[in-house]
Amino acid sequence: MRVNGAYYQSVWADYYNKEIYLINQTLLPFRFEIKKCLSIQEVIYSIQTLEVRGAPALGLTAAYAMWLSFAINKGNIEKIKHDYDLLINSRPTAVNLKVGADKVFSHLSYSTTEEEVWEKVQHFVNQELTAFQRIGLHGFRLIYDFYVTNSRPVNILTHCNAGWLACGDYGTALAPIFEAHRQGIPVHVWVDETRPLNQGARLTAWELYNEKIPFHIIADNTSGQLMLQHKVDLIIVGADRIVKNGDTINKIGTYLKALAAYHNHIPFYVAAPLSTFDFDIHDGQSVIIEERNSKELHDIFVEWNHNTFWAKIFPYEFPAYNLAFDVTPASFITAYITEKGIFNKTSDVI
Ligand code: MRU
Repeated sequence: MRVNGAYYQSVWADYYNKEIYLINQTLLPFRFEIKKCLSIQEVIYSIQTLEVRGAPALGLTAAYAMWLSFAINKGNIEKIKHDYDLLINSRPTAVNLKVGADKVFSHLSYSTTEEEVWEKVQHFVNQELTAFQRIGLHGFRLIYDFYVTNSRPVNILTHCNAGWLACGDYGTALAPIFEAHRQGIPVHVWVDETRPLNQGARLTAWELYNEKIPFHIIADNTSGQLMLQHKVDLIIVGADRIVKNGDTINKIGTYLKALAAYHNHIPFYVAAPLSTFDFDIHDGQSVIIEERNSKELHDIFVEWNHNTFWAKIFPYEFPAYNLAFDVTPASFITAYITEKGIFNKTSDVI
């Protein structure tokens, strides 16, 4: 996508200088800065602090990180394995992190060259970016059909950020919205703020604003009332892991949206590439849900007089509990939008 007229992926790498670059998502929307990572430790720091975030972008980052580890460790498989273990355990919930790391690590042998590793990474990255583009085209049909049937702007609700920042490019949940807007279909997006880190208000809103797509940020508690008032036509969210029975793990709060959507007969779509499907796990309750530092609830990122800083919104003495994801049961999900098409059941996906 373009930022100030220039094309960016949210994560990329420089083969010759052995550097990984990422758009620092913690500073948006106030500051647009590129972070450079020169070591696995720096990549892991960026993953854990959410400088790079979003399941598919974590997959790309992990693939680049394995290439970097290969280059730094000059192909020493024991040392690369050490980095691999650190990397795949740096965040537990999004399956893409391991998928991306495995794309490189599982193909290594003592005769693998760095050029071959780089080619593998490039192939994986291109495959993923193509998948996001296709998700956009498939999901577009849903928006288009609604528009043609109802002849009025389509109101779409989304949660967290499943846009191009979260994916490298295009997005998952936002890709169909970008496509609809490009094709002249009038859309309006309800953007869940997504506490505690406000990925919706900071990142999704920033992406939509840059593309001139009409939107409103809403407090996380607002969407139920909007659904009751028939102000939400369809919901599209992303996913961090979709398991065999179709249960979907996504940003905390997704389950409550799905519940309200079900009650109000509003279609609830999950948009994700095949790399987010994990058929080794049967049901959502078996997935590790990341618990993050409670400081993320105590503190909020603000701008004041062109300076950014963290401000406390309640005392550290007040205990807080910060689960990063929840499980939406398959029974609340209308369909999965993937690069292969739209499927009502996960058993049809592969
Ligand atoms: O903790 P994050 O910001 O990495 O979580 C990401 C999400 O849960 C997003 O909602 C998204 O849907 C999955 S990535 C496209």
